[in-house]
Amino acid sequence: MKKIGILFGKEDTFPWAFVDRVNEKKIKGIQAEAVSIDMVQQAAPTDYSVIIDRISQDVPFYRAYLKNAAISGTAVINNPFWWSADEKFFNNALAEKIGVPVPKTVLLPSNHRPDDTDENSFRNLKFPTSWEQIFEYIGFPAYMKPFAGGGWKNVYKVNDAQDLFNKHSETGQLVMMLQEEIVFTEYFRCYCLGGSNVHIMQYEPRNPHHLRYVTDGAPIAKKLLAEIEKLTVKLNQALGYDFNTVEFAVRDGVPYAIDFCNPAPDADINSVGQVNFDWIVENAANMAIEKAKSYKEGQLNLTWGTFISDVFTPSQIKKTPVEKTPAKKSTSKSSVTKKSPAKKPAAKTTTATKSTAKAATKTPAKRSAKK
Ligand SMILES: Nc1ncnc2c1ncn2[C@@H]1O[C@H](COP(=O)(O)OP(=O)(O)O)[C@@H](O)[C@H]1O
Ligand SMILES: [Mg+2]
Repeated sequence: MKKIGILFGKEDTFPWAFVDRVNEKKIKGIQAEAVSIDMVQQAAPTDYSVIIDRISQDVPFYRAYLKNAAISGTAVINNPFWWSADEKFFNNALAEKIGVPVPKTVLLPSNHRPDDTDENSFRNLKFPTSWEQIFEYIGFPAYMKPFAGGGWKNVYKVNDAQDLFNKHSETGQLVMMLQEEIVFTEYFRCYCLGGSNVHIMQYEPRNPHHLRYVTDGAPIAKKLLAEIEKLTVKLNQALGYDFNTVEFAVRDGVPYAIDFCNPAPDADINSVGQVNFDWIVENAANMAIEKAKSYKEGQLNLTWGTFISDVFTPSQIKKTPVEKTPAKKSTSKSSVTKKSPAKKPAAKTTTATKSTAKAATKTPAKRSAKK
């Protein structure tokens, strides 16, 4: 018997519907259930050929459990190693490299210093002198949001420099990114399963929560839908996510990818609506069954994106230029000072904020399961 497990938190509609749907199909030798965890012993295999992970972003214990399961062969969806590695800022950089339009984005150092650091830990930073350059590049209004966040937590629209400094001073130790606003004519959220199965949903983020998934929207041009599907597949092939959502804001007919790091995307019937819920339950069940069928004992059964897998192909390795000249001793003067700088610590980021230099004790928010 090949078992498919689902690991989940507070959500209460998708997991049960998923388990029921897999079992209703009565595929010989395949059965689904809620994952059951007891003692977690290193290198000990689990009972599951496949696990759908909907919660490890909020529970580090589960993430470690899933990596241990994966090394013993469980096909964990999504790959817990990749999910531990990437974040929104990196994903934006990857999108740009593979030709997917994304808003101009920069990374900001946290407003409060991380625990156990002092001003000497930030001597490499040129802030606050970089602010002007950043404002010129991004423009206002802009969006400021955590580089590894979700669920609309700590997402701010900022109208000018002072507004940004005020809001940034509320973000504690969170590492934020500042992003060009895309003033859009249409907005979409797309489920993507198995890297190629795409379900496009019209979405209106300016509506109240329960009315965001639009059911009576104007028809969308086929060309735009085809472009959105192509970009969604491109992103998920590179990232290696089996289960993700991608959000696009369309400006002047160009879809810009806004949020595509949602590996436990909202699938609650109360927010996505019946039609979208039915799609995700049916297609997730089919994907999990396929994964269980192709599961091979004694090997890793994870999905890796082309960003990772290409690195390990011989052709790519050959292409990497080899530096033969021995490195010369650098004569250039570094701007990094040897002693603690007298000026205000860079990690405090701005002269405009009034927050204390004391590092916040709050731990940075993790990526959320929702939205
Ligand atoms: N660059 C942007 N341009 C326009 N709207 C944005 C931009 N970034 C975020 N938003 C709006 O804010 C919402 C939440 O931001 P998002 O990046 O999706 O964060 P989260 O991962 O928390 O959902 C988006 O659904 C969108 O409506
Ligand atoms: Mg989002």
